[in-house]
Amino acid sequence: MTLQASQARMAHLLETRKTNYSLPQPFYGDADFHQFDIDQIWHRNWLFAGPACAAPAAGNWFTMEVGTTSLVIVRGSDGTIRAFYNTCRHRGSKVCIGDEGKSAKLVCSYHQWTYELDGRLLFAREMGPDFKVADFSLKQAHCRTVGGYVYVCLADEAPDFDAFSKMVEPYMLPHALDNAKVACSSTLVEKANWKLVIENNRECYHCTGAHPELLRTLSEYDSTDDPRVPRAFADRIRAKAAEWDAAGLPHASQNALDKRFRVVRLPLAQGESMTMDGKPAVQKLLGNLQTKDLGSVRMLSLPNNWNHLQADHALAFRVLPLGPQLTQVTTWWLVNKDAQEGVDYNTQEMMQVWAATNDQDRVLAENNQAGINNKAYEPGPYSPTIEFGVQNFIDWYTGQMAEMQPPARAAIPIHLAAAA
Ligand code: FES
Ligand SMILES: [Fe+2]
Repeated sequence: MTLQASQARMAHLLETRKTNYSLPQPFYGDADFHQFDIDQIWHRNWLFAGPACAAPAAGNWFTMEVGTTSLVIVRGSDGTIRAFYNTCRHRGSKVCIGDEGKSAKLVCSYHQWTYELDGRLLFAREMGPDFKVADFSLKQAHCRTVGGYVYVCLADEAPDFDAFSKMVEPYMLPHALDNAKVACSSTLVEKANWKLVIENNRECYHCTGAHPELLRTLSEYDSTDDPRVPRAFADRIRAKAAEWDAAGLPHASQNALDKRFRVVRLPLAQGESMTMDGKPAVQKLLGNLQTKDLGSVRMLSLPNNWNHLQADHALAFRVLPLGPQLTQVTTWWLVNKDAQEGVDYNTQEMMQVWAATNDQDRVLAENNQAGINNKAYEPGPYSPTIEFGVQNFIDWYTGQMAEMQPPARAAIPIHLAAAA
């Protein structure tokens, strides 16, 4: 099938699909549809790159793969975090190899072209008298930070970031993630389309059957106005809301831009932190927080990020599309920069709940994908009361895809702005 034919097929399926039903099969694995996702979702929108403290000092970098496009996020000598396309200006080799590293300069291992941490080419051997290093800086992607998190955008012109930034910053700042460190991280590669990973994250319909560790503390309800919230939890929300109002901590549920961005602070169902016994995993709390029981700030930014910010540690999740049925999920556990492993926290204990939960979700997403690949699969209905988060995501996604202009590739060139 030509790309144009695939695009016409997608447009037809978008027009004829039942709303509030899961998507037709090709959306979850067709190679052309996946390329359209990359062009339309991943190359146009703000994406979560990682916590800024994953690049704690000048020269620290980490990478992210968006389809076949690799980015490297680098902290410069001036302390600024920048995002570069991870492709050498000589003959295109990847410059930074691996998930993370630290180097005084960014040196391409192929022929040793050497770049400053701000992307400028510093040195290239044997390139002749007319060669101008100033013409061969690494190409830069849009990069913004908010509350200690880094977001990037691969579009020519980035869409608005301020609505998200203004909304979430007051919720994030008390947790002082700029003054945190990465205690540990994990990366899973899941054999499922990225949308199945997000769909799974957007509902807790599956939680009682799948997540015994998580439900020791977390409430499966994530909205203060959900009519199904049990009385005891509703009372807890009210009591905590009064405490948080007195402490000046924002907690109300807020959305922005078609529910693409969401933030709320909610109490846990029981306990003070998402650990096996509900006790804080870290004795030294984040920032200057004095209260252990702050529930969690639940933050969503589609298409690839959700978070839990607790008093003792924060969790950041990043989803990246590696292929039509292959998705990477990275989790960071963040603690106060001054907390000491073995003294203030035990990494294995802190990781236990979400390491188990992530793996349970991986199995669910992979089984979901395998069943969708069945020739008898047809889209099925979302629960109106418990899968509204999935509906919100699918509404946003289908709206984005409906804006696709033919032909997709020509309409959405990958703009590579030169480094300043
Ligand atoms: S491709 Fe990077 S130095 Fe040659
Ligand atoms: Fe789950």
